[in-house]
This record gives sequence, C-alpha cells and structure tokens, in this order.
Amino acid sequence: MRLLIVSNRLPVTAVEKEGEIEFRMSAGGLVSGLSAYLDSMKHSNRKAFNYVWVGWPGVDVPDAQKDKLRTKLFDEAQALPVFMSEKVMDNFYHGFCNSTIWPIFHYFPSYAVFRDEYWNDYRAVNEAFCEAVLEIVKEGDVVWVHDYHLMCLPGLLREKRPDLKIGFFLHIPFPSFEIFRLLPAPWRSGILKGLLGADLVGFHTNDYTQYFLHCVLRILGLEHNMGQMIADSRLVSADTFPMGIDFNRFFKAASDPEVQAEIRALKIAFVGQKVVLSVDRLDYSKGIINRLRGFENFLQANPAWHGKVVLVLVLVPSRVGVEQYQQMKRRIDEYVGFINGKYGRLDWTPISYQYKFLSFPTLAALYAISDLGLVTPLRDGMNLVAKEYVASRPDGTGVLVLSEMAGASRELGEALIVNPTTGGEIADALKMALEMPVEEQIKRNQAMQERLRHYDVVRWAEDFIGKLSEVRKEQDTLKARVMKPAVRDELAEKFRAAQRRILLLDYDGTLVPFSKRPEASLPGADLMSALKRLASDVKTDVVIISGRRRNALEKWFGELPIHLIAEHGVWIKKSKEDWRLIKPLRNDWKPQILPILKMSADRLPGAFVEEKEYSLVWHYRNADPELASVREKELIDDLVQFTANIDLQVVCGHKIVEVKNAGVSKGNAAIEFLGASSATSAHFVEKLADGLKSRLDHPAGGPAAYDFILAVGDDTTDEDLFKVLPNMAWSIRVGLANSRARFNLPGHHEVFGLLQKLIGEG
Ligand code: UDP
Ligand code: G6P
Repeated sequence: MRLLIVSNRLPVTAVEKEGEIEFRMSAGGLVSGLSAYLDSMKHSNRKAFNYVWVGWPGVDVPDAQKDKLRTKLFDEAQALPVFMSEKVMDNFYHGFCNSTIWPIFHYFPSYAVFRDEYWNDYRAVNEAFCEAVLEIVKEGDVVWVHDYHLMCLPGLLREKRPDLKIGFFLHIPFPSFEIFRLLPAPWRSGILKGLLGADLVGFHTNDYTQYFLHCVLRILGLEHNMGQMIADSRLVSADTFPMGIDFNRFFKAASDPEVQAEIRALKIAFVGQKVVLSVDRLDYSKGIINRLRGFENFLQANPAWHGKVVLVLVLVPSRVGVEQYQQMKRRIDEYVGFINGKYGRLDWTPISYQYKFLSFPTLAALYAISDLGLVTPLRDGMNLVAKEYVASRPDGTGVLVLSEMAGASRELGEALIVNPTTGGEIADALKMALEMPVEEQIKRNQAMQERLRHYDVVRWAEDFIGKLSEVRKEQDTLKARVMKPAVRDELAEKFRAAQRRILLLDYDGTLVPFSKRPEASLPGADLMSALKRLASDVKTDVVIISGRRRNALEKWFGELPIHLIAEHGVWIKKSKEDWRLIKPLRNDWKPQILPILKMSADRLPGAFVEEKEYSLVWHYRNADPELASVREKELIDDLVQFTANIDLQVVCGHKIVEVKNAGVSKGNAAIEFLGASSATSAHFVEKLADGLKSRLDHPAGGPAAYDFILAVGDDTTDEDLFKVLPNMAWSIRVGLANSRARFNLPGHHEVFGLLQKLIGEG
C-alpha cells in the first residue's frame, strides 16, 4: 500500500538561515502524531508500506531554487512540496485558515474575520493541492487528507478522479450547527460538499462526528444511517477515531541516556519544589490566561505552598502573523511578569517561562520530572500533550489536571477534570493534585495508561485506514446493484422482443423529482411524450402506480392510453374504463384519525395533512428534519394505539406517514394487472391464499400473460410492488437504498433515460 498523506504542514518546516535552507521539525499535534505513526511503520519493516507526504514547505523560494528544495525535501522527509506565493499564503493561511476557520471551529466567533478574498484563496490553495496530488497519485494509493486547511480538497479530487480512495481526518473540533452556520452559505456548503468528496471523514470525538452529521443534515439535507449517507450517489461514512500517541516511546523515554541527562539537570534546577508542567503552542484556544489565573488563585489561597511549587510554562511560538496571537503573547508576558513580581522572592520564582519549541529529550525529561501536568484549553480537538504526560510516568505517579473542553478528556476520565473558564476550579484542582496520595495517583494513571497503550497512534491510523477499506467494499456492493449500461441494453432488447409487456411506474421520485409542495411536481412535456409513445404500442400496458389522489392522476394522464392506480392501491382505472375501488373499503374512521394527524402537524412547523378519499397522509418534507423524526415517532405511537382494533394500517413512506385500510397496497393493486402471469412468485402464491384467487383467475381485462414486466419505484411503498413480481420481472429501486428490487438506478433522470431507450431514443 502507498499512502499519500496530504496536509498543509509538512513534517519539517524550511527556514532560511544565512542564505541556506534548513529544516526544523514542525510544531503541532498533527505532525507529531502522523510522524510517530510513520516512524513506527518504518521500524516495523512492513515491506508493502510506502508513503509520500504532500504539503506546504513553510517558505516560498525563487523558481530557480524550487527543484533543489524539492529534492532535499524528498530525500530527507519523503515530502513533496506545494509552493504558494506569499500573498496567496497570507489570505489562505493567516486569513481563512487561522482567522476564520480556527476561531469559528474553536468557539471564538468574535475573533473571526469574514472576507471573500480569504475564501477565494482558500479554494485556490485547495485546487493547487489537488493538482499536486493528481500529478503523483497512482492506482491503488490511499489518499489521506488532513485538517481544516484542506476541507475542499476531497471534493476537488473526487471531481477529477472518481475512483480514488480518499480519507479525511479533522484534527480540530467540528463545531455545533449554531456556530458552523455563522459561515456564509456558499462557504459552509462548499466545505461540507468538499468533505463529502471523501469516502470516510474522521473526527477525534463522537460529539464532533455528530455535529458534522447534524450540519450535513441541516445544510445539505442529507440524512444518515449510523453515520453513513448517500452524497452524489456515493456512500460516504463519518466516524470517530480518537488519535493516540506512540505510547512506548514516552513510557520508555526515561531510560534513554540523553533524556536521563536532561532529567538530572532539571532535578537540580527544581530541587525541593513540586513541578507543575504546562506545554502548548501559544494559542488563545489553549486557555493560558485562565491557567495563569488559576495558578495565581492557588498561590493567593495557599501561602503555605509558596517556595515549594513552580509552574514550568512552555509556550511554542505559533502563527505569529495573526493579530490575535500577537495580542495573546503580550497578555501572557505581562501576566507572567505580574505573578512573578507579586509572589516571587529572591530565592523563588513561581513561574519558569520559556517561549520556544522543545526537542523530544527535553520535553520527555520535563514530563518525567513533573508532579503535575496542567492542561486546561478552552477548546481543543484532542490534545496530545495530556496523553504524553500520562504515558511518560512509568511508575504511575503524577497527576493530570485536564480541561473538559479537550477532546482527550473523553478518554482520560481518571484525570482531575476541570472547567477552565474561571480560575477557581483550576486552583482547587491544583491543591487537590499536589496533596493526592501516591496510591491514588498510581491507580488513576494506570487505568489511563492501559487505554493509551491499547489504542496508540498506530492503532488509530490502522483503524482509520481499515474502516476506509470497509467503506469502499460497501460502496462496491451498492454499486453492483446499480444497473449497468450493458444490463440496460439487455432490458431494452428483451422489451423489443416481447409480445405482451407491462410497465408499472411509480410517479413521485421515480418519474419526477420531489418538490416542496406535492402539487408542484408536474409531469414535463418530454415525460408525457415518452409515456404516450410507450402506451400507444398495443403490445405495451403502461401503469402509473402512485400514492396520489385519483383526480390528480386523471388530470395529468387521463388523455393517454395508460392505466392508473391511485392512493397507493385504493383506486384502479384501466385505460378507457372508470375508476373502481380495489375492494369494498371504509372511510368512516377518518373523523377519528384526522384530529390526531392535525394535532401532530400543528406541533411541527412545515408539516401538513392531506386528506384523500380512503386515506389520510401526514407530510413532513418541509419540516425541520430532526424535530420531524421525533414527531413521526410520537405520531406512529399514537396511531398504532388508535388503529389497534380497526382494520387500518399505518405506513411510513418518503417523508410521509399514511393511514389507510388494511390489505391495500401497490402490490395488491398490481396483481389486478399481472394476473396469472405472476404465479411464479412465492408472494403471489401467498396472495392467492389471501383470498384474491378468484379475482386473479378472472382479472378485469382477462389473463394477461405478460412476457416482459418492468416495475420501477423509489419508496418503501414500492417494496410492496416488488415483492409480488414473478422472478422473470425487471424491478428497479430508484436511489441507492437496499431493496427487494433486482437493481437500483441513482435517480429519476436515469429512469427517464431508460424509458427513452425503450422507445428507441436512448
Ligand atoms: N511538542 C513538542 N515540543 C514542544 C511542545 C510540544 O514536540 O516544545 C509536541 C508535543 O509532544 C505534542 C504536540 O507538540 O505531540 C502538540 O500537540 P497537541 O495535540 O497537544 O496540540 P496542538 O499543538 O496540536 O494544538
Ligand atoms: C494544530 C492543527 C495542525 C497544525 C498545528 C500547528 O495542531 O490541527 O493542523 O499544523 O496546530 O499549527 P501551524 O499553523 O503551525 O501549522
């Protein structure tokens, strides 16, 4: 397998030093997590594993130097650079990524800047990444796109290469709908459609996955079933994969001589003091001011601890070109100075502050000597530092104080979990942690360590890639059901060769698309002309088999030589004959049921009740989908109780709930036409036993004996039709749902294409 990792950040960032290009390890959890995974894979010597990492090198160099940098990056980091001009990078990186998306997705809407040029360059950079991937991608590659910088990329790749296996993982939170909708409409739907270009979209926590699915439903109107949806006739899955760390690297770090040397030095520096460790990129989402306030509150309330505790505050420079980050740096500098000035003594400085990126040995040594890990972001997708601190304590001692706003808190429940918004909880947790008995520390840490060891970064990546393959398999199964062009040709041939043909065609969703109001879905001229040509052939019976009222069907199709079935099988009208009921039916139950449906519609804005002659229908197509789902369940519950002792059935169709007489269905109505020719079907035999035999032996038009049967429908009510068909029939379910039908077609356009083919025009 070759993996193409695509992220804005490459594992190394190029920097110019005295005219020469040097590489530094890039900061952040994305790079440290993926690098740890790739290192493990390299050391595991899996021959079949290969990768290329595509991303921005961190600098723009003159064209003449690009090839040299390209070669150096490939040789030293298996990386392929995507170069960007400074202006574009400014609008893209400082602009849309870090002044629009980052604040919105981290619930800092007041920091967000909304500018069209930012969005335009975001699209442009995503397109540039698309070109770069297309240049190198080979058949069989797995393309794994990462993070918020490249949310349009999966969709762009999919347009150009529908066959690609594409995964997407978001390393930051996905916000709730109310926050996400702050993005202007074209941006938010552009982002969601871009993400749905992937086969699998992954998030750190189940909350983020659910928020994403919710936004997809509310903004694009796509429903999901256990995280799976059909977008553009393709199955897409969204799921949760909490990113892990290279557990053993941290667990065993203290035995490394380089780390041991650092530990010795640190122990001397902090002798006689408890060490509280705080390590982050300098980011307003990390809640550093709140953390300092918590530490100050603690010092204020606990003078006995003065001189005996030190806060080691490590801040890694990050996004220094963004105004909010510069402001945050100034505020932190001032606050640290204030606390040290106020509480410090000649022999004690409460906060040891460093503004730099630490190498692994230094960081591992700090984790090893610290009595407390203090991780209190205001919002954080995951936070690997929290996991690394726990893993770095092989003897089980040490206390993690962790914000409930970090994704990691979902897995690290034994930590002291705090709400970071006020300093109060942090101060209390600090005291509790410093005084926690060692046995309790060990008990808590061991439980967390087991979890982190078990689901480490390799498990995380393999879980994701494995799930991606499963989704592709499911897509293949669904695809296999879609009628291929060759099968459509075969169907047309059989149609032409047949002597007695019948076409049973559902109307809404099959011949015409759905619209907000049922009366707006009219048959177009092309459809009418195709139906007329089909039905004019004496060898062909065309039956429109619909849930519509009989007067609507008659108005549209009454002039054509076709047969009509209305109200899901209540009414039958053979061409040139009058309407008749399928069997004696009652409608005296309607006054009892109507108020229940009306009451439910009143409680669901957008819902309405349609009264037909022998049925009542509650429509919710135009209602809020989530509330509709709740109301639908309540309604069905009520109806089932009311209809228990009456001969009625409650049927759920496409955004409708219908109440009608028992024994009425599209299947039973179709039998009126199919007559004895469907005797090969097991269900047909059942129907005979149901007492329909006498009518089937003498159907209205005499035994039909069709040698070509085609039934097409898009709805659960059409399943009743499919199940009475004989084995020789062609049955097609419109949409990609599972079905009793033999085949699927993606939508009404394809159905029309098939009808065209039958009249020799397709
Ligand atoms: N890190 C590092 N050196 C430092 C500070 C942090 O290597 O001086 C690493 C740390 O080990 C962790 C990552 O940077 O793996 C930070 O990831 P995290 O998820 O905590 O935060 P992010 O920066 O992604 O928001
Ligand atoms: C977070 C993001 C990463 C990003 C990192 C460092 O971890 O999820 O995508 O790379 O921060 O930020 P930077 O802007 O320097 O890439």
